[in-house]
Amino acid sequence: MKIAPSILSADFLNLQRDITIVDQAGAEYLHIDIMDGHFVPNLSFGPSIVQAIRPLTDMVLDCHLMVEQPEIYIRQFAEAGADVIGVHIESTPHIHRALAMIKENGCKAEVVVNPGTPLSAIRAVLPIVDAVLIMTVDPGFGGQEFISSMVNKIGRLAKIKKENGMNFEIEVDGGINEKTVKQCSLSGATIAVAGSYVFNSKDPARKVSLLKDLVED
Ligand code: DX5
Ligand code: ZN
Repeated sequence: MKIAPSILSADFLNLQRDITIVDQAGAEYLHIDIMDGHFVPNLSFGPSIVQAIRPLTDMVLDCHLMVEQPEIYIRQFAEAGADVIGVHIESTPHIHRALAMIKENGCKAEVVVNPGTPLSAIRAVLPIVDAVLIMTVDPGFGGQEFISSMVNKIGRLAKIKKENGMNFEIEVDGGINEKTVKQCSLSGATIAVAGSYVFNSKDPARKVSLLKDLVED
């Protein structure tokens, strides 16, 4: 399983330092939460942050778009240096177009599904995605509690993936800590986002290695 620290909980005045710490600790992904104040009740970063981060690291820049009309922003994030772009199924009536745009712009396409949205909503796009992000909290804020019924949802998605010979990544986001990461990994998740667990600690590097140790194959 790969670990994706979320910079939403990093120290913004020392962002470069925090990114270097998790990079050196072996995190494979860096998760960047983009919020527009409409799709979710919070504001965060735009493409210029991604552009500023890009030269600092070779980690996979994983941009989670929590915005209305995501199609408008896909190109900007791709040009800024995103590797993966995630679009919520709840944010657009044109999910095929959005995912195709992500690929046309040279990035990996990820569909994101909120806790209250059933897997049936994303079934049609599973053959064309590189990754599925199962939200394990309602998006908008770091530090929320993991919704435990999502473990079963991860397992059901992993089963669909296996039965159909698909090979997308299964990412989980929200409330990940040493207990919940294990449950997600056992259910078939392949990437774990962790924000407050890593960065609200005095030793973020240790938290990254701890998570990595827990979910070693
Ligand atoms: C929530 C974001 C998450 C957030 C996770 O809307 O999508 O990526 O940073 O934070 P924790 O790990 O603290 O739940
Ligand atoms: Zn996120």
